[in-house]
Amino acid sequence: MSLPSSFSLAGRRIVVTGANTGIGQGIAVSVARAGGTVIGVGRSAMDETEKKVADAGGIFIPARTDLADRKAARTLIDGLWDAHGPLHGLVNNAGIIRRADAVDFTEADWDDVIDINLRSLFFLSQGFGRRVIAEKSRGKIVNIASLLSFQGGIRVASYTASKHGALGITRLLACEWAAKGVNVNAVAPGYIITNNTEALRADEKRSTAILERIPAGRWGTPDDIGDAAVFLLAPASDYMHGAVVPVDGGWLAR
Ligand SMILES: NC(=O)c1ccc[n+]([C@@H]2O[C@H](COP(=O)([O-])OP(=O)(O)OC[C@H]3O[C@@H](n4cnc5c(N)ncnc54)[C@H](OP(=O)(O)O)[C@@H]3O)[C@@H](O)[C@H]2O)c1
Repeated sequence: MSLPSSFSLAGRRIVVTGANTGIGQGIAVSVARAGGTVIGVGRSAMDETEKKVADAGGIFIPARTDLADRKAARTLIDGLWDAHGPLHGLVNNAGIIRRADAVDFTEADWDDVIDINLRSLFFLSQGFGRRVIAEKSRGKIVNIASLLSFQGGIRVASYTASKHGALGITRLLACEWAAKGVNVNAVAPGYIITNNTEALRADEKRSTAILERIPAGRWGTPDDIGDAAVFLLAPASDYMHGAVVPVDGGWLAR
């Protein structure tokens, strides 16, 4: 079945960070289904994603990078652009979480999370925006935010700070770049079954409390997120700037 052109990513090269697993893998497969080429960025092998993308009829180009390496993160987009041709989209998905009570929270757990979830998101976006603007082309950035872009949560101080920051940066970049050919928007996933939520799901009391509050009555899966990202990468969303799309089973509506 062919997609209407406004929802198609045919001929587009989309960078997805954290593509080896979880939500990044779900987005990579959705991008491939929509006809796009996926350039997957990750610090671990991305063979499983490569296979799933191939099964969806797409092309996957792996780019092994540790985004904790600040220089690598700063120069990544230029390198990919030069190696593979113009890029059309960037999905800032890679992220980590550390859990501890606020009174015990360590500087390492603060710095590590902010570095990946916020610092690398900004500098990858800067690299992408610079090239799109310099080449007078068009491009789309999709940042993966969170319910904790809106709410406080507990025991995840640096994560909440990073995700509030990610939404703020989404809005700032949208304002600076909306008239310069770059759309910057965000998807806010709800509670999704991935490595990120393994500890939460293992805590019977908390996982029951979470499930009871989700209007849809189930946790989400990476597949639930992929097509929302595709929408924000496709021409269908050309007039969207600085928006955040919750994909949360109704959590924020409650
Ligand atoms: N799951 C949820 O309920 C949920 C809800 C809201 C938002 N999110 C956000 O969704 C995004 C994806 O998370 P997920 O749930 O899919 O978790 P995940 O399964 O843990 O995936 C995180 C991804 O980020 C990558 N990553 C982490 N540190 C990296 C680094 N230094 N360099 C390169 N890649 C790195 C991971 O690679 P490795 O496998 O090698 O570590 C992995 O591919 C995150 O931004 C997360 O905050 C998740």
